[in-house]
Amino acid sequence: MTDLFPASDFDDWAETYDASVAIDQFPFHGYPDVLAQIVTLAAPRPGLSVLDLGAGTGNLAVLFARAGCDVWCTDFSEPMLAKARRKLPAAHFALHDLRAPLPAEFERPFDRIVSAYVFHHFVLEEKIRILSSLATHHLSPEGRIVIGDVVFPDAAGRERVREEAGEAWDEEFYWLADESLAALKEAGIRAEYRQVSVCAGIFHITGEA
Ligand SMILES: C[S@@+](CC[C@H](N)C(=O)[O-])C[C@H]1O[C@@H](n2cnc3c(N)ncnc32)[C@H](O)[C@@H]1O
Repeated sequence: MTDLFPASDFDDWAETYDASVAIDQFPFHGYPDVLAQIVTLAAPRPGLSVLDLGAGTGNLAVLFARAGCDVWCTDFSEPMLAKARRKLPAAHFALHDLRAPLPAEFERPFDRIVSAYVFHHFVLEEKIRILSSLATHHLSPEGRIVIGDVVFPDAAGRERVREEAGEAWDEEFYWLADESLAALKEAGIRAEYRQVSVCAGIFHITGEA
């Protein structure tokens, strides 16, 4: 099957990625707020282990490192990870495709699993499959998963932003909060949701329902 979003797309983007997220428009409208609210919901404290999936250039992981957490990062793009390594000299890294089981050195429970702007590369069924597996196999007993991404409250919200974005719109598997919350519940995952900007929101997963 063709990979719609191969690692090579992100390899080419690594050099300019941090400039892209600094532009406050779709799809990164509200980016700093999304990262800040992921941190707030994750409630970090020194010593907590935090796994950042699709860490990219490390912008989210850096916030957890500053809070004294033990930070673990994955991404399937080596140029993205190279940027993150420079920002996070003490973190653990793995070149890893999120759709595959975690590598051996990451086979352990984490106090927090976080991710920003990654899961919209997967169809809803795949999102749920990955989150379900993480909640079951990789979360410590009081652990939580916090996922920020391009999310619309519903299909009407997506259409409004699609029209406004015009040429800037890319067709990807953006979350719709209403159908996603129903699918998470159906899969036995306890989740809450908050909208952060017109095109971004955060799912807060506290385990199995
Ligand atoms: C839009 S960037 C987000 C980076 C970072 N999390 C942030 O918030 O700035 C998406 C990242 O997800 C990574 N990614 C996309 N699909 C992936 C996959 N299947 N497995 C692992 N990483 C993936 C890309 O390489 C890229 O670094």
